[in-house]
Amino acid sequence: MAIDDAGLDLLFREARTHNKFTDEPVSDQTLHELYEILKFGPTSANSSPARFLFLRTKEAKERLAPALSSGNLAKTMAAPVTVIVAYDPKFHEKLPKLFPHNPDAQSWFTSNDALAATTAFRNGTLQGAWLIMAARAMGLDTGAMSGFDNDKVDKEFLAEHGWRSNFLVNLGRGDWEGVFARSPRLDFDEACVML
Ligand SMILES: Cc1cc2nc3c(=O)[nH]c(=O)nc-3n(C[C@H](O)[C@H](O)[C@H](O)COP(=O)(O)O)c2cc1C
Repeated sequence: MAIDDAGLDLLFREARTHNKFTDEPVSDQTLHELYEILKFGPTSANSSPARFLFLRTKEAKERLAPALSSGNLAKTMAAPVTVIVAYDPKFHEKLPKLFPHNPDAQSWFTSNDALAATTAFRNGTLQGAWLIMAARAMGLDTGAMSGFDNDKVDKEFLAEHGWRSNFLVNLGRGDWEGVFARSPRLDFDEACVML
């Protein structure tokens, strides 16, 4: 089975990074549905290290503002929702639930800090991509951002959980007025090798 052309357009070919959103709110119910879809994206050892903070109030956005780069400030304050895509460096504590068929799994990471750090960041980043794709599949639009001070976000929002920030995603219904011209992508021969 494969999705049709309209689905490929929605997810990839016509999907754009949005800088401006309409006033249409994104309900908490929609954010729950979004998580219920993105959680099925694959991660190594089913580790699922990403954690998501959905900032959907003025108060929460104001706490984020001092960490944002100047170019990301106004559009983030105006977006219906901003997601902090974070990860839990101690993700392995949940492996007894997530990888129950192998009781040794936790020890792979408790015995190797470098592997734990790489696994948390690699898979947490993937899950941020699953969030973007799940949002598109639901008819929402996104604008990802790495232009912010991670340490400030960690102190303000994540220290209490022991989590770390990766990147941010603005979420809502895109206003096409704010979309830049599409930049080129690499051609197959520049990016791919056939062996
Ligand atoms: C992880 C990540 C971080 C990004 N950081 C920023 C950012 O800080 N500010 C910004 O305006 N755009 C940011 N972008 C948007 C990219 O520039 C944009 O996705 C890319 O140019 C492709 O645009 P398109 O999706 O419309 O084709 C980021 C995108 C990603 C995936």
